[in-house]
Amino acid sequence: MPVMPTKQILDRAFAERYGVAAINVVNELTMEAVLAAAEELRAPVILQTSVKTVKQIGLDVLWAMWVELTRPISVPVALHLDHCPDRAVISACLARGWNSVLFDASKLSVEENRRQCIEVVAEARRFGADVEGEIEGFKRTEEMTGDEASHVQSLEIAVDFIKGTGIDVFAPAIGNAHGTYKTAPTLDSQRVTDLVEATGIPVALHGGTGMTAEQFSDLIARGCAKVNISTALKIAFMQSGHDYMAEHPGEYDPPKLFTAQRAAVMEMAKYHIRLFGSEGKAWT
Ligand code: 13P
Repeated sequence: MPVMPTKQILDRAFAERYGVAAINVVNELTMEAVLAAAEELRAPVILQTSVKTVKQIGLDVLWAMWVELTRPISVPVALHLDHCPDRAVISACLARGWNSVLFDASKLSVEENRRQCIEVVAEARRFGADVEGEIEGFKRTEEMTGDEASHVQSLEIAVDFIKGTGIDVFAPAIGNAHGTYKTAPTLDSQRVTDLVEATGIPVALHGGTGMTAEQFSDLIARGCAKVNISTALKIAFMQSGHDYMAEHPGEYDPPKLFTAQRAAVMEMAKYHIRLFGSEGKAWT
């Protein structure tokens, strides 16, 4: 069962310049389907849980699902807590065994974010876990105004934050957002290159759903070793359920519905794994 530190998965991808899909899962079905997709393609993968999912399913049940579902898996996998401003949830997930956390203190001043992030890194290290940091919050796509790339901290402040906190991966705002883009976003890819050159650590690309193949390959080549996908899973899961019911009116057979949803989620995960160049990269 090669569950391993997120950093171990990312450092390899960063060195070889491929992207690891970091996919938000929402329940047991989607967790199993994403793991199955990675196993089939012999790809390392990161599974992410939002704070909402942790609270909805419950930490212990979610953890039990992870332990049991990863037992037969032979490719490198890690469990990551996505955007979490709540230190209590961070502590609980780290103590339970999550491999990494994104401490999202983007609503705090950079100074206070930095102070607390140093504490989170120290706490994570005690559990052999890793930390992603951010200083600029991400909008939802429907809130975008087109000038997102200009509302960022200076390179100097970002580099100082990364070096001063000792985080393992950094999530910069480069014009990306969470949700479904109306048109492909305009991204500041040079910022990724500048950050990577100045710090030598991998970058996490947020808001992956809806970026073009060219954007992914360019950003991965510049050092985005972790590529976050959430909305695409929600769409695959829900749309396939909707389509199945529309195509089978009057049929109330949950396992058949689940089979259709699993297939759709697996397809979505395989599509992104291939796009990011991580197919066949499992070394375990
Ligand atoms: P999307 O929902 O746009 O794929 O973004 C995912 C993400 O960045 C999760 O943190």
